[in-house]
Amino acid sequence: MSELTARITAAGEYISKFWQHKPVAGIILGSGLGNLTAEIEDSIEIPYSNIPHFPESTVEGHSGKLILGHMQRKPVVAMAGRFHFYEGFSMQQVTFPVRVMKALGIHTLFISNAAGGMNPSFQVGDLMIIRDHINLQPEHPLRGKNEDSLGPRFPDMSEPYAKTLIEAAGKIAAANNISLHSGVYVGVQGPTFETRAEYKYMHIIGGDAVGMSTVPEVIVAAHAGLKVFAMSVITDIGIREEENVITHEEVLAAAKAAEPKLTLIFSELIRQL
Ligand code: HPA
Repeated sequence: MSELTARITAAGEYISKFWQHKPVAGIILGSGLGNLTAEIEDSIEIPYSNIPHFPESTVEGHSGKLILGHMQRKPVVAMAGRFHFYEGFSMQQVTFPVRVMKALGIHTLFISNAAGGMNPSFQVGDLMIIRDHINLQPEHPLRGKNEDSLGPRFPDMSEPYAKTLIEAAGKIAAANNISLHSGVYVGVQGPTFETRAEYKYMHIIGGDAVGMSTVPEVIVAAHAGLKVFAMSVITDIGIREEENVITHEEVLAAAKAAEPKLTLIFSELIRQL
């Protein structure tokens, strides 16, 4: 057993002492988007700090615990708070929980995040299904010796976001009068928000939204053969011409306002699993 697989096993075994179900889905919740966990029934919570080899979350708006329980009668494991590269964690640390959730048994990973909009048709509070991404982060979570038991050396990335789930989400949104965009998410390192020139550049290269998370977790999920569904809440619009200062508080407030729509879509998708 490699050191990495030993760490994954140790974390998984610790969690299994408190909760003996096999989760079908993992859920990673973004900044200001932690309330979805209120939908999880018969839940138990495990602080990250108790789990062997888990890093500890530091950002405001990320509470840092694993929540295990049932959503729509399906066993799920949710992360309230995630790890970001800008916090100083390595990409291996950022993505470690994805590997642990896979070891616990999940086959689908749901991800939410707060993101800056670059598509001129987007408004603050809109939801965007991520249909593809552009990775502009400076480090890669799969760099280094490949762990063949976890996935292939050169993973295919032609469809990291499951088409079936994207289609199902579109139907759920239509049935509930929720308007949804679909678009390309650009993953950056942060922690600065972008300059005007950077927002413009990211739009020109094909991005619709930009954020500081998600891409590493999706890469590791794809490596592990997990199905992924990811959605951004547009919390600010980077490309506006007028004076446009973006603050973390504004991002959290917009995320919170849009959260019920996101929760409904995640919950319905989980019901259909
Ligand atoms: N840029 C990067 N990350 C973000 C943004 C943004 O505009 N909004 C929320 N997260």
